[in-house]
Amino acid sequence: CGIIGYVGPRSAESVVIDGLRRMEYRGYDSAGIAVLEAGGIALRKKAGKLVNLETELEIDPIPESHVGIGHTRWATHGAPNDANAHPHVSTNGRVALVHNGIIENFASLRAEAIAKGAVFASETDSEAAAQLLGLEVAAGAGLADAMRTICRRLEGAFTLVAIDTASPDRIVAARRNSPLVVGVGDGEMFVASDVAAFIEFTRDAVEMGQDEVVEVTSDGYTVTDFAGTVVAGKPFHVDWDLSAAEKAGYDWFMRKEIYEQPKAVLDTLLGRYNEARELTLDEVRIADSELKRINKIIIVACGTAFYSGLVAKYAIEHWCRIPCEVEIASEFRYRDPIITSETLLVTISQSGETADTLMAVRHAREQGAKVIAICNTNGATIPRESDAVIYTHAGPEIGVASTKGFTTQIAAAYLLGLYLAQVRGTKFGDEIAAVMTELESMPEKIQRVLDNTDQFHALATRLSDKRSVLFLGRHVGYPIALEGALKLKEIAYLHAEGFPAGELKHGPIALVEPGIPIFVVVPPHGRDQLHDKVISNIQEVRARGAQTIVLVEEGDTEVEPYADEVIWLPKASTLLQPLLAIVPLQIFACEVATRLGHDVDQPRNLAKSVTVE
Ligand code: G6P
Repeated sequence: CGIIGYVGPRSAESVVIDGLRRMEYRGYDSAGIAVLEAGGIALRKKAGKLVNLETELEIDPIPESHVGIGHTRWATHGAPNDANAHPHVSTNGRVALVHNGIIENFASLRAEAIAKGAVFASETDSEAAAQLLGLEVAAGAGLADAMRTICRRLEGAFTLVAIDTASPDRIVAARRNSPLVVGVGDGEMFVASDVAAFIEFTRDAVEMGQDEVVEVTSDGYTVTDFAGTVVAGKPFHVDWDLSAAEKAGYDWFMRKEIYEQPKAVLDTLLGRYNEARELTLDEVRIADSELKRINKIIIVACGTAFYSGLVAKYAIEHWCRIPCEVEIASEFRYRDPIITSETLLVTISQSGETADTLMAVRHAREQGAKVIAICNTNGATIPRESDAVIYTHAGPEIGVASTKGFTTQIAAAYLLGLYLAQVRGTKFGDEIAAVMTELESMPEKIQRVLDNTDQFHALATRLSDKRSVLFLGRHVGYPIALEGALKLKEIAYLHAEGFPAGELKHGPIALVEPGIPIFVVVPPHGRDQLHDKVISNIQEVRARGAQTIVLVEEGDTEVEPYADEVIWLPKASTLLQPLLAIVPLQIFACEVATRLGHDVDQPRNLAKSVTVE
């Protein structure tokens, strides 16, 4: 969910609605706004996308106000209807509150509030917090005190933002396991789930720590822990501006982000490799001696980030000779994984807020493991709680389907692999330099793929009526097949699956029927026969009537006779080819979804950042 609060001279409505628009990618099942008006709270909320709320505001305008809060929802408890939309107003009319997360003990809190006279208007867990807060302020507590009191009693994950009719000059917000940042303007203040919400007005922000409450007026803020002790927030300056959070002439954020990949990968690599040919990373708080002791790496992540981890495994094991497991974060801690102080956990998360991944971090640290985060969001919870961070510097990713997130995660994970190899001495200067030189050539090669996209557009036109599409690859091409299929599922809602090409004959080949499109990623020629084996796999499916679309490096004409269509990729070594091979698949998915009339940036049922387990 996306949350915003504003206090200042501007119209609260316009700041809140603009902020919600920039955060809509975080959830779009419903949206709502509450502002303080003379003697009360004005509330408007609507199921569906933000535009429904905007229409409602035209029909039934909300009074002019300078204090307001808003919410865009990704539903957990309760259907996405008007009543369950946020904000929730307490029965006594005192407070309005928005919530992101899950309140696990809401049933008992709800019963308690009902016993004290609250009448619930929704099925949400969030309303229990609104009602209890309303009861606390009615009993005489100030809003910040009341917030601290209820936060001490809530279990689960939450960002809460509230306003109170008796404190018309302020908003109070709290966080546990869910994101919250404070935006510091000149005579105005913001709180939001992410900086995109207020980037138009200020680039100065303050990170909120775990279990903290912030009280904000137009000219300042005070942060405390849940007990009321004042703590210092951590100020930071956002290194991108409004233009990065806008579409800049593209029809979709996703398309813009696909085209930003050359720059994003370049920025991820920038400044990591000095003249003395040494790699340096951000915020590494782990001693070399500890990195030398590591005997196992576990990469945990979700969704696209998980697939980037699968790619990284090949490189890390190859360069570092350390066993590297890759695991879906939500599966990780519940299987009682074997973790020791010699285990290195590497998390990959674009947002740095994904709850499943965060819980894996905590679990691993409790068992004594060191944790390195690969993340795109400065100061997010996962990097804050890790021992070291490598930021991907891709700029904000707004399209729900991750694209530049993916390629920059691979680049960052490769940097980590090389760094570990450097520290542990499994690769020497020249070998590292050779890989770095090739990595540094990738942005230009990605650009070459992006300069010739007509073919992918034509393919999308031809294939958008297909019900099912398969993707095959071997070695690092296998996770690319998985990611290519995920893109198509996420935004085009097509049945799409990725398989290891060699595994096809052990089952999935039964799916192959005449006309089915099958994308195949062909590895470059190497010493290991992988290339030839994939060509055999192409023949196997072609013999059964599949339409083969083959991604292969320029000049590799051996494949042509077996391909119905060839997508030529610039030459790259096996380990670096994924950075190129994924690009046509991203564009293909974006084009198919566009032709099918889907909302590419906000696909149904999904949200960009899932802060609940
Ligand atoms: C959500 C998004 C996916 C994303 C995954 C992991 O499910 O819909 O696109 O890959 O979360 O997100 P993260 O921010 O942890 O990389």
